[in-house]
Amino acid sequence: MRRVKTGVPGLDKMLHGGLIAGRPYVLVGPPGSGKTILGMHFLLQGIEDGVKGLYISLSEPAAEIRDNMSAFGWDISRIRILDVSPEGGTGVWVLPTDGLLESVRFNVANLNNLITTELTVHKVGNIVIDSITALKELCERERDIRVDLLSLMNYLSENRCTSLLISESLGDAVEVESFLARGTVRLQTIFLNGKRKRSILVEKMRGTGFDEEARPMKITKRGIEVYPSESLLE
Ligand SMILES: Nc1ncnc2c1ncn2[C@@H]1O[C@H](COP(=O)(O)OP(=O)(O)O)[C@@H](O)[C@H]1O
Ligand SMILES: [Mg+2]
Repeated sequence: MRRVKTGVPGLDKMLHGGLIAGRPYVLVGPPGSGKTILGMHFLLQGIEDGVKGLYISLSEPAAEIRDNMSAFGWDISRIRILDVSPEGGTGVWVLPTDGLLESVRFNVANLNNLITTELTVHKVGNIVIDSITALKELCERERDIRVDLLSLMNYLSENRCTSLLISESLGDAVEVESFLARGTVRLQTIFLNGKRKRSILVEKMRGTGFDEEARPMKITKRGIEVYPSESLLE
């Protein structure tokens, strides 16, 4: 099975070479834990490997993401960023029905339409959805969530997209997306004597062995660094 690098060498080592290509994964963590940055590492690595990348943002304006990432000296101009937040430029979708124009609130169904366009017109191969938590809030009924997410993930894998679905979490709670995804990577932050300690854990990864231990991680001026030979206790 082909491996897709996450763009963070230490994490790729933990994954025994990277993510298995063409599958959906969940990246979960609290606010400020580095989810957006890790998502960009993944898409930039893809560009380097000749795979087009798409970042679908439901919670942060595209310009802000670009500004934040430029602090790392990254050229993310080759990554497509679509802002589909309710306030964003494309937040309200206008779809033609019988020649009439209709405003439609963004939801999982038209996300599938959007992804279809991206796959066929723009030949995107790697996708980050930020966040699946915001997407779930757009589901009208609780019981739709599981079905909608499952159909989204199956759609992505049928189209051989390697995707990172970002999940916002405050505790250790396991969300429905983690059950459905083929793998989960969790970012964690603890405070020891007032000092912030970041860590990264591969919680689940189907079809491959992986490092079972949580490893230290840092966000530096070069982005995320993972130390796969170090223990958290050191
Ligand atoms: N240039 C930088 N140098 C060091 N740390 C940074 C830099 N830029 C951002 N960070 C850290 O990254 C965090 C934001 O990461 P981000 O990926 O946006 O988090 P999330 O998406 O999980 O909310 C900030 O809270 C800060 O701690
Ligand atoms: Mg973020």
